[in-house]
Amino acid sequence: MEGKHVAITGIGGFIGSHLAAAARRAGAARLVGIDNLAYGSRDNLSGTLGDRENRLVVRDIREIDTLEWAEILEGVDVLFHLAAEKHNQSRDDPERVLEVNVVATRRLFAAARAAGVRKLVFASSLYAHGRRGPPAMREDERPLPDTTYGTSKLAGEHLLAELSDAAMRHAILRFFFVYGPRQFAGSGYRSVIIRNFERILRGEAPVILGDGEQSLDYVFVDDAVAALLAAAGEDRDGGPYNIASGRAVSINELTEVMLRVAGSTLRPVYGPADETAGSHRAGTNDLAAERLDWRPRIALEDGLARVHAWMAKRTGDDGR
Ligand SMILES: NC(=O)c1ccc[n+]([C@@H]2O[C@H](COP(=O)([O-])OP(=O)(O)OC[C@H]3O[C@@H](n4cnc5c(N)ncnc54)[C@H](O)[C@@H]3O)[C@@H](O)[C@H]2O)c1
Repeated sequence: MEGKHVAITGIGGFIGSHLAAAARRAGAARLVGIDNLAYGSRDNLSGTLGDRENRLVVRDIREIDTLEWAEILEGVDVLFHLAAEKHNQSRDDPERVLEVNVVATRRLFAAARAAGVRKLVFASSLYAHGRRGPPAMREDERPLPDTTYGTSKLAGEHLLAELSDAAMRHAILRFFFVYGPRQFAGSGYRSVIIRNFERILRGEAPVILGDGEQSLDYVFVDDAVAALLAAAGEDRDGGPYNIASGRAVSINELTEVMLRVAGSTLRPVYGPADETAGSHRAGTNDLAAERLDWRPRIALEDGLARVHAWMAKRTGDDGR
């Protein structure tokens, strides 16, 4: 990142705001962020943006035409495209998912190449794979998304491959379940981690839906950001990389660790099963390990302890 001019769409969101801070720490010379703040917030960016060299463009990417992109992206070396309609936010409006994640995304990719961007890094998703059962999803298996969101992310991957070339290299990262401080910025979907820490901090029992044996592969946000920066530094096309730990953690185990890091003696209560019942989703990370020398460094217990500390500070109560 040293001396680079960096652009980040979705900069006000969870991963984008951590990436922005990390890019500045890594020596980015200029940083421009694009976000309509529908799910993100300026608070996430305090201390990161605000001076002349580092600015926020508050715009909906659906409304930015090719000409405006040319102005925003002028001189940009590396573009991270993170702005998206996500699965849980938009099951009620699949057309919006396609407008943002496919139509506006394609326009951005074409504009980036025209603007002379050297590297474009795209945040894709485990939902591009589409599977919900074991074994762990492999990077080289045929993706078969079964949701509009997953289809939109896979379309984004293909469009990026189509629109990039030797002058604009690309990288695709399929994030599994990224968690960490700022995961929930005040609007949108609250994960089971955030909801249950909120309950624990109020002295209420955490709630597990179904039998709690459904499982997911969790990656701490600092590890996700490290993967984004490593992919940006590769001088060839990269991915799709699974940004995953390789291990699916059940909600029962997750809740047990959460209660432990919170120092709580509460016991979970069980509610009716939801659509995650019976699912087991993990990803292998062999390609990222081999090409990017990336593997997750933050253990689940340490990551959850950091989320708990962040939430306790926000509520002014450690919940004990
Ligand atoms: N968090 C995860 O576990 C996870 C997993 C898989 C993939 N991803 C992908 O990573 C990226 C970042 O995810 P996140 O968790 O930080 O999400 P987030 O919702 O916190 O951040 C996304 C940001 O994009 C902005 N945005 C959304 N639509 C926009 C639009 N039309 N115009 C301009 N800005 C817009 C939002 O305001 C928000 O600040 C997304 O592309 C997401 O699909 C995340």
